[in-house]
Amino acid sequence: MHEPDYGVAGRTAIVTGASQGIGKAIAETLAASGANVVICSRAQERVDPVAEAIDDECEGTALAVECNVREREQVDALVDATVAEFGGVDVLVNNAGGEFVAPFEDISPNGWNAIVDLNLNGTVHCTQVAGEVMRENGGGSIVNLSSVNGQHAAPGESHYGAAKAAIIRLTETLAVEWAPHGIRVNCVAPGLIQTPGVAETLGIDSEQMPEREEVDRRIGHGEEIADLVQFLVSPAASFVTGETVTAKGVPKPGNSMSEGLGLE
Ligand SMILES: NC(=O)c1ccc[n+]([C@@H]2O[C@H](COP(=O)([O-])OP(=O)(O)OC[C@H]3O[C@@H](n4cnc5c(N)ncnc54)[C@H](OP(=O)(O)O)[C@@H]3O)[C@@H](O)[C@H]2O)c1
Repeated sequence: MHEPDYGVAGRTAIVTGASQGIGKAIAETLAASGANVVICSRAQERVDPVAEAIDDECEGTALAVECNVREREQVDALVDATVAEFGGVDVLVNNAGGEFVAPFEDISPNGWNAIVDLNLNGTVHCTQVAGEVMRENGGGSIVNLSSVNGQHAAPGESHYGAAKAAIIRLTETLAVEWAPHGIRVNCVAPGLIQTPGVAETLGIDSEQMPEREEVDRRIGHGEEIADLVQFLVSPAASFVTGETVTAKGVPKPGNSMSEGLGLE
């Protein structure tokens, strides 16, 4: 009988932006399944405790590296450190990202560049540098974090939406270009997930989020995105590449979408 293989044990995964939120959940999930994880954020002191907890509690080991994904030289050093510690890169999760909310006409050139640089160019730097190692070593798997805001209009998020939409097309293109190298490239587009970053963007305490009445769906948890990422990088997803998987939960009863889905 066939049994699905969701295993990542012994593989080496770089997860960017893993000091909190979704990236932290992804790193912990992969490490709990036995992967060695290299986690980064802009501040060593924010990513060190995450690595220590992983080393204490998980089967896999963790290496914490200070790296701003907007800086190509720092990304080079991140990948060099990964190869030096674990001998290669099997998995790259381009999670580092962020935003601020503002009407398009109020976004300064600096503000626009900062959001595109973090979300899109950070993904480009990490993918080019880690991808070179994957090509030399015969393959790998990449997952990019987009957003439902890269799929649909979200007022106040023109810069973020444009960058996240570009990530979807980059994913599709690389899946084709790098298929001959044994590299699968997929994308995850989360809906609203309870993280410190979202709480800061919305100007609320993260614990208040589930109470927000204007949200038409249950708010998700980082672990629910992490489980999806683990599937996508595992052998069970060997026939999946170039795809964007939306994870936005089930509509609450009483709104137009739930009626359309026959959930009432
Ligand atoms: N939460 C949601 O509802 C949601 C929905 C759709 C998509 N997403 C996407 O999912 C990803 C994670 O979101 P999140 O809500 O978990 O974010 P978050 O809570 O704001 O965490 C962002 C992480 O990225 C790191 N980071 C920020 N700038 C960085 C840089 N230049 N270089 C390296 N690391 C950097 C932060 O660490 P430091 O501050 O220590 O550097 C932190 O670990 C993002 O790409 C986001 O766009 C989130």
